[in-house]
Amino acid sequence: MSVATSEMLKQHLIDPEVCIRCNTCEETCPVGAITHDSNNYVVDASKCNFCMDCISPCPTGSIDNWRVVKSAWGVDEQFGWSELPAQQDITPSATGGQAEAIDYEVQALIAEAHSGVGGKTIAPLSAAKPSVNLFNRDKPAVAIVTGNFRLTDEGVDNDVRHIILDFGDTRFPVLEGQSVGVVPPGLDDHGAPHRIRLYSIASPRHGERPNTNNIALTVKRDGAGLCSNYLCDLQKGDKVSVTGPFGATFLMPNDSSANIIMICTGTGSAPFRGFTEWRRRMMPDAPGRMLLFFGARRPEELPYFGPLQRVPETLLSKYFAYSRISGERKVYVQDRMREQSALLAGLLRKGATHIYVCGLKGMEQGVDVALDDICRGDGMTWRELREVMRTEGRYHVETY
Ligand code: A2P
Repeated sequence: MSVATSEMLKQHLIDPEVCIRCNTCEETCPVGAITHDSNNYVVDASKCNFCMDCISPCPTGSIDNWRVVKSAWGVDEQFGWSELPAQQDITPSATGGQAEAIDYEVQALIAEAHSGVGGKTIAPLSAAKPSVNLFNRDKPAVAIVTGNFRLTDEGVDNDVRHIILDFGDTRFPVLEGQSVGVVPPGLDDHGAPHRIRLYSIASPRHGERPNTNNIALTVKRDGAGLCSNYLCDLQKGDKVSVTGPFGATFLMPNDSSANIIMICTGTGSAPFRGFTEWRRRMMPDAPGRMLLFFGARRPEELPYFGPLQRVPETLLSKYFAYSRISGERKVYVQDRMREQSALLAGLLRKGATHIYVCGLKGMEQGVDVALDDICRGDGMTWRELREVMRTEGRYHVETY
């Protein structure tokens, strides 16, 4: 580390794994902070004034990377990188009390949501490096609501809504699959601040529209759910306190040849909207397949039903499972998976295949049994394969 400071600082970095070395950022930077050698494009922290002029012209989003650091990385160190460093530990104990406290309550929630994976998991090897814990309860990012749309049909109780939060000039870097915390305003019955609630991000890393500084959330109204109802009732222009971003493993592979099998119920579809949009925008001709097994009570209650119909099957193979269509038998995602046994077994035999499960905790077991049956039917042992996939960052579960 060559540029030392005594304060924590946010450093602007370029992801060498995603950058296509097109020189746009260097041409755009008004203060000459961006430079390159034969290996990398880098940002000189001693010159960067955070004007953000370079962000939107970047065609890949590689420019939009940030780390909170004790002392900035120098340009020479960045020239040598083949990937971005992980976010450093900035807990108070690791920083002599200088840093913001990480919200351990949130870390516990994430650990619980990921418990279904069967042990410690890692991020896909080709995933971009996430930024985490940049904002917390004491120092949240304040976002403005720029949209709040109903996703489910009128007349459906407990509507699901698509809520867009814009961070304005505040850098809030995210990757598909990450979550944010929302701090509901007010105090509980005991006069204490409300617990932070976690929501998966439903938009890709460069925003609802490319190179916008916003995120989308998929939120279901819930009779007793204080935070969900607060979010569902938000109006355009309202301010929301946001913490995070959180999550360093449930991330999508950047490798365009990766096959991505996504299994979800209800609002568990949020991260998969982000995955699908990122691939659609950045790698529309990716050789890797994307499959979506999506469970809901009825089509009217399936979030993003309309937009999903317009995603071409060549990009995303869709298998909907409905459990409450009157006069029809109950179908769950695991039933649809069984119907696609041959296809799934063929994909599972490939080292480039990733599985993601997101949604109701109750679905975990049924999906696991279905994968067990599918593997057995094709001469594989799911328990063994699952272990291999987990340790290779190819099996991910996030349930609640
Ligand atoms: P069910 O009709 O039996 O509750 P929602 O978020 O709207 O409640 O939708 C969740 C979907 O997941 C519903 O279709 C629900 O069916 C279904 N579901 C419930 N339990 C399971 C389970 N154990 N495995 C798979 N899907 C499930």
